[in-house]
Amino acid sequence: MQDLFEAIKHRRSIRKYQNKPVPQSLIEKILVAASWAPSAHNAQPWRFIILTESESKQVVAEAMAESWAADMEKDNVKIDEKVYKVRIERFASAPVIILACATMEGMYMQPDPERQKVERDLAMQSLGAAMQNLLLMAHAKGLGACWFCAPSFCKATVREALKIPDEFEPQAIVAIGYPDEKPIAPNRKVFGEYCFKNIWGKVFYVQNTQTTFKMCK
Ligand SMILES: Cc1cc2nc3c(=O)[nH]c(=O)nc-3n(C[C@H](O)[C@H](O)[C@H](O)COP(=O)(O)O)c2cc1C
Repeated sequence: MQDLFEAIKHRRSIRKYQNKPVPQSLIEKILVAASWAPSAHNAQPWRFIILTESESKQVVAEAMAESWAADMEKDNVKIDEKVYKVRIERFASAPVIILACATMEGMYMQPDPERQKVERDLAMQSLGAAMQNLLLMAHAKGLGACWFCAPSFCKATVREALKIPDEFEPQAIVAIGYPDEKPIAPNRKVFGEYCFKNIWGKVFYVQNTQTTFKMCK
């Protein structure tokens, strides 16, 4: 097992995969890792559909691409045929697609609508934690993965394609496979841009530049 910090730092979004199947045992491990994420009220408000068959991947990929094209048309944006094809291929050709759905099942019912909105925030935060566990476990097992937000933009379409009941909300896709690329780490913000000390805006002085400014190189 890699040092946790090293694993976190070296995980990259991998968007190209070898044409090699991912063993079911690894997929299971990744999904169990997701279930060990923290969640508000321990509600575990995530559900996953694992797509490994070409046909189901193709159906969802095409449905999402069509929905995207319709959105672009609404915005009067001309669709590039190549981009359209890439949007299908990216999902249809990935060895494994995990569709992550959020649910309010197990979350609290608040009498105040404003506080109820917070419950939704908590469910989404919990799903995010599970997603990060998925990505890190995939990385730890030598797999490449990428989080894609496409389903969030076409929830009804994805629900229909995969017969998902209304109370489960398609949120994201994680595509997984053996990596076929080695991307350079995108830059990270430096401490001063995202950390403050004691009060908003007050600089958090860095003591160890090794672990901060140079962390993504
Ligand atoms: C909520 C969320 C949505 C994302 N959606 C997409 C996406 O639709 N397409 C994509 O190529 N990458 C997507 N990504 C991956 C990010 O682009 C990537 O994490 C970021 O550029 C940093 O790169 P790294 O993951 O290699 O560190 C998404 C990541 C997150 C957390």
